[in-house]
Order: sequence, then structure tokens, then C-alpha cells
Amino acid sequence: MLQHFFNPSSVAVVGASQNPAKIGYDILNNIVRYGYSGDVYPINPTAKEILGYQAYPDLASVPSKIDVAVVAVPAGKVMDVLEQCGKKKVDSVVIITAGFKETGPQGARLEQELVTRSRELGIRVVGPNCLGIIDTASTLNASFAAGMPLAGHIGFFSQSGAMCVAILDWALGENVGFSRFVSLGNKMDISETEIMLSMGQDENTRVILGYLESIEDGPRFMKAARQVSKTKPIIIIKSGTTSAGAKAASSHTGALAGSDHAYRAAFKQSGIIRAESMRALFGYAMAFASQPLPRGPSLAIITNSGGPGILAADACDRSSLHLVPTKKETADRLREFLPPSASVYNPIDIIGDASHERYQKTLEVVLNDDLIHTILILLTPTAAVDAEAVARGIVSLAKDADKPIITVFMGERGVRGARKILQDHAIPSYDYPEDSITALDAMLSYRRWREKPERQYRHFEADTRRVREIFASVVKQHRHDLIESEAREILKAYRFRLPESRIAKTTKGAVRTASEIGYPVVMKIASPDVLHKSDMGGVRVGIENEAMVEEAFFDITSNIQLRQPEARILGVMVQEMVPQGKEVILGITRDMQFGPMIMFGLGGIYVEVLKDVAFRIAPLSVESADAMIRDIRSFPLLRGVRGEPPADIDAIRDALLRLSQMAIDFPEIIEADINPLLVRPEGLGAVAVDSRITIQE
Ligand code: ACO
Repeated sequence: MLQHFFNPSSVAVVGASQNPAKIGYDILNNIVRYGYSGDVYPINPTAKEILGYQAYPDLASVPSKIDVAVVAVPAGKVMDVLEQCGKKKVDSVVIITAGFKETGPQGARLEQELVTRSRELGIRVVGPNCLGIIDTASTLNASFAAGMPLAGHIGFFSQSGAMCVAILDWALGENVGFSRFVSLGNKMDISETEIMLSMGQDENTRVILGYLESIEDGPRFMKAARQVSKTKPIIIIKSGTTSAGAKAASSHTGALAGSDHAYRAAFKQSGIIRAESMRALFGYAMAFASQPLPRGPSLAIITNSGGPGILAADACDRSSLHLVPTKKETADRLREFLPPSASVYNPIDIIGDASHERYQKTLEVVLNDDLIHTILILLTPTAAVDAEAVARGIVSLAKDADKPIITVFMGERGVRGARKILQDHAIPSYDYPEDSITALDAMLSYRRWREKPERQYRHFEADTRRVREIFASVVKQHRHDLIESEAREILKAYRFRLPESRIAKTTKGAVRTASEIGYPVVMKIASPDVLHKSDMGGVRVGIENEAMVEEAFFDITSNIQLRQPEARILGVMVQEMVPQGKEVILGITRDMQFGPMIMFGLGGIYVEVLKDVAFRIAPLSVESADAMIRDIRSFPLLRGVRGEPPADIDAIRDALLRLSQMAIDFPEIIEADINPLLVRPEGLGAVAVDSRITIQE
């Protein structure tokens, strides 16, 4: 896939220049100096030779086949170069040139013309507005980056060229090896999805790293990520998560950033590890690229000081890792050589006077404890310890270790040399304990993702014909919001449980209906124009008898006439009063990049004040529905606290899955919520008490 880009037999640089101040010079220079072994063709209108290579005035003059053309001519000349590529049958083009959609409407038009023409010509394009591409296995550096990464196993793609430069510099400083670098630029043709898939197939890439500002095709990206992340970890930093950040992102690449809820959900559902900061991205990259995945959650900490050990233990507490006590045999073996004041349990504190030999022996013993899945070694540079000797000891033992070993050597001057030894031998080294735990936690959750069984989907019987009829009639009336009785019909069609309910047009009718339904009842205004019924005085609950029905009918209708005189009143809805339960809210929204999203939260203040909600992209699998219920912070309230019976979680899951199916079946639903869904104790189900649906043609 995209093989020509990364393993070409020949490369042309269009806009190659003899002038070292020009980008076209840098690109050719990088191709030549980092040892690319294929044929190289500089293209320049006047030069005869550049950097020792014969130059050609145009692509047509090159006597042999060209696999890749790297283009660094001004924006106005790119179309002409594309035409030349078409004639010369060059099918892979990297456009470095800036000045397209990132600059405004005129640039966007120019870019669109390139898109159309490249499709007609069957040419694949990376960029424009990019730094270029690098493949260390084929020693191709077709970029104007200042340097070439060491060969390694991390593949990196980025929507920002500057981020490529920063990562490359970090990689060179830390001796971290990379397989590929791809600067995506404006993504006029090749997007993150294709690059991710191609890195998924690349045998030199073991870990995929990405920097993204937007995603072109959400569902396709998720499908690809799901597939690739089953074999290779994908770690992504996504910027533009706040609205201010999103604005900056759109002016940067002219892309529309989706809401962060959608990204969060999409990443979770496709196994992507999200790095929340550049520091986390580097930290994860180090651990994933060099260490095996932990077999399980138990972590042992070896430390020569209490404080950092406690910090690490605290961080561990906030993660899914467990600090299990060491096995009795391990503790006994440690006691044989550790001083009596050392702690042989976990964290294993080998105390302040620990030497490198003590570190080495301790690590040897802990490596043999089969109940420990991961080892974190902490060191503070005391006078008693030779930090570099500790690092060398770790390196020698790590060679045959089958579990991840990571290190935190705290300080700077006293540990600089030791850190270098660790980095040079691919042992992750972090500045602070918290960073190391976050990286390990990410590795563990990735392992769990890989081991997850295939997702299951459920299909429910639904009267879609009836739904279609209702939507058609709403559209005919030029409305977008469904009235409550219509929304109820829709939910009924999807077999939600609803409270019994009928519209009464007169006081007498309301009394009759209430006695048929059975007291107590709830009464609500029935009007297509009143959306916030309670706020308008349009709802009464706990109506126990005839007199109360009469009073409520009068109050409700006059409240609405008074407060919203233009509202059309169809009558008053008399509704069965549902027994006590937990109020939850379920909803549908649509995200521009990912499509329908399902929301879940506990009702009332939990949604309004605490914003304690979870989102997932539809269609929901059974597992995703379960996971989103457990994702909210207030989940323990559903499980039951202080002797309360647990709520019927299965009924919530069932409702979420039905709602997801509805969102997929009817793309015209742009917003919906069931608020509240009243969840009865376990086994007793859930009732959709109130709902709102908004559609768009
Ligand atoms: N075929 C071949 N060569 C051509 C053609 C052509 N059709 N047209 C022009 N050239 C030659 C020129 O003669 C020149 O060579 P010379 O120095 O021997 O005269 C060379 O191509 C370059 O053309 P210039 O007109 O000198 O253009 P310049 O080098 O100033 O700029 C560039 C071209 C670099 C592509 C510029 O337009 C540009 O886009 N710069 C920004 C690039 C960028 O930032 N990309 C995003 C990177 S990501 C990040 O943020 C780090």
C-alpha cells in the first residue's frame, strides 16, 4: 500500500535548486546525503547539474521511469507539474509547496483543482503544505527536515510539519529510532487513515504515532484504526480539543475540528491510545517501542528512597495497575541480602545507602517473581550509589527479561549519564514517577484492548414504516421538533417501555382518562410549540383524584396561554405516574466528522451541573453500551449505595442499543433525548418518561 512513496526505485525533485537557501536544495540534499540508493533526478529549468546529479528541465526529459516526484515549486506552478507527472506516468507525488487551502478561499480553489486533476490522472498525493516523507528502511529522506532519524520501529504521521520537526529533533536527542515520518500537510488526497493502514502493513513499524488536528472521514478512520490497533498500538495526540484550540486548528490547515467528545469516544471505540500532551506522547512512544506489553496489572517498584516510591504508589492508585505484595519466596530471598530496615514488600525500598550491587540483586530476584508483571525502578542520586553502574546493571538484566522494565532516575546532573546509558539501550527513562505510571497504564489498557473478544451487535425489531410516516408528516408541516405524542410514537416503534398516556381535550375528558389509567397520574401540556414544559408551568405530577385533575387542567392550560400565548394547544396529556426509580438521560447528537453519537448520564444535577456524561459513536456494540454506563463518575449510584437496590443496568443497556439503532436507521434525527429514562430496580426494567426528537430533512 502506497509502496511507491516509501520504497521507490527512483525519485525526482521538481524545483531542485543549486541555491542552498532554497527548499528545493534541502530536499535534494537530504535525499542524497542520507544514502538513498535509488535513481535521483533533479528537475530545474536551467541547471545542468545539482549536487553531482544530472538535472533535467522537466519530467518528460528524464530518460527512465520515475516512482515519486517531490514538488517544491511555487503554488501557481504546481498544476503544471501535476500535468507533467500525468504524462510521465508518475503515480506518487509529494507536494511540499504551501499556499493552498490554509491561506483562504482562493488557495482552497486552487487545491480543489489539484484534487480533481490528480484523481483524473490517477495520481496519489501527500500534502500539499507539508514537510515531506522519510523512510529509514529505504534510507529515503524526501523532506526538508534538519536531520535523519535513526532506523527504528516507530512510524510517525503528522498534520503539522512543525510537529514533525520537533519530534525528529527529540528522536535525535534521545536516540529513539523511527521507521517512517509522514508530514500530511493539507491532506488533499492521502489522509491519516491511509497512512495508518500503510504503517499497519509495514513490517518495520511496530508502534504508530500521530499528531492530528482533524480527521477527514470519521467512520473510515475508526474502521481502519480498529483493524490496525489489534496488532500495533496507535498513539495519537489530537489538538484543537478546546473551542479556542479548534479555531486555531481550522485556521492552520483549513480543516474542521470535530467536538472533543466525539474524538474521545471514537478513540476509545477503536483502540487508539490518546496522549494528552506532547510529554505523554514521547513517554508512551518510548515505552511501547522498546518494551513488551505487560502480561497483567501487577507492578513492583524498586526504590532507594521513600518519597518517590510513595508518589509512584499514589499514581498507581489512580491507574489500573496494582501494587501487589511480593511473593513469600521473593520476600525471603530479598531479606537474605537487604538490610533489616529495607522493605521487602511493595514498593521494595532498598533504602538510601543502596549501592548498584543492591539494585542489581534486587532486580534479579524480582524478575523471577512470576506474579509481578512489570518493574519500575526508581533512583535518587545519593552519594552511596553509582547511578551509571545501576543503569548498566539494568541494561544487562533487561536483555533477557520478558516483562517491561522502566526507570525513573530523578534529578539532573547526577543522573544524566545514567539516563543516557538507559536510552541508548532502549530502556525507557522518565523524569518523574507519575509519567512512568501513565505510560505503563496505557500499555496495560492497550493489552486489554487487544485481548477483547469480537464486539457484539444486537438488532431489535422496529416499526420503521410508522417512524417514516411520522417524520413525513412533521416535514410536511415544516416543523423540525416533534411534539411529545409523536416522539412517544417513535419510541414505541422501537419498543421502548413508555408510561401509559393519552391526550385529553377537555377537563371532563381528562378526568375520564385519569380514572382509566389509574391514579396517581401526571399531566402535561400537549403543544408542538412548548419545548420546556416544566419551566412554562406546563407539568403537574402526583395527581391523586378528580378534583386535582380538574385544577391541573385549568392551571396548565392557563399558564401556557399566559406565558406563551402564541403556542398551539392540542390538549393536556394525562400520563401514568411511573413508580420510583433512578433518573437517567439518553441522547443522540450528530458530530460532523463521526456521525451519530449516543450520550448517557444520570439525570438532574449530574448532567446539568457536573456534566457527568459519556459519549460513544453509533452503532454501539453491546460492550460499548456497557462501557459507557460504567464510564460516568456517578455509576456507583446506579449500582446502589447505602443498602439501595441496584438499578436495572441491563435495561439501560437495552435502551442505549435501541437508541443507537434508531440513530443509524434515521439519519434525519439530528438530536434526540430521553429524559428521564426512569430505571427501576434490577429486573424491573426502565420507562422512557419524556422525550424530545428533532429532525432535519
Ligand atoms: N519545474 C522545475 N523547476 C522549477 C519550475 C518547474 N516548473 N518552476 C520553478 N522551478 C525552479 C525555480 O527555477 C527554482 O530554482 P532556482 O533556484 O534554480 O531558480 C526552484 O524551482 C524554486 O522556485 P522558486 O520560484 O525559487 O521558489 P522558492 O524556492 O522561493 O519557493 C516553495 C518554492 C519553497 C515551494 C515555496 O513556494 C513554498 O511553498 N514555501 C513554503 C513551503 C512550506 O512551508 N511547506 C510546509 C512545510 S510544513 C512546516 O510548517 C514546517
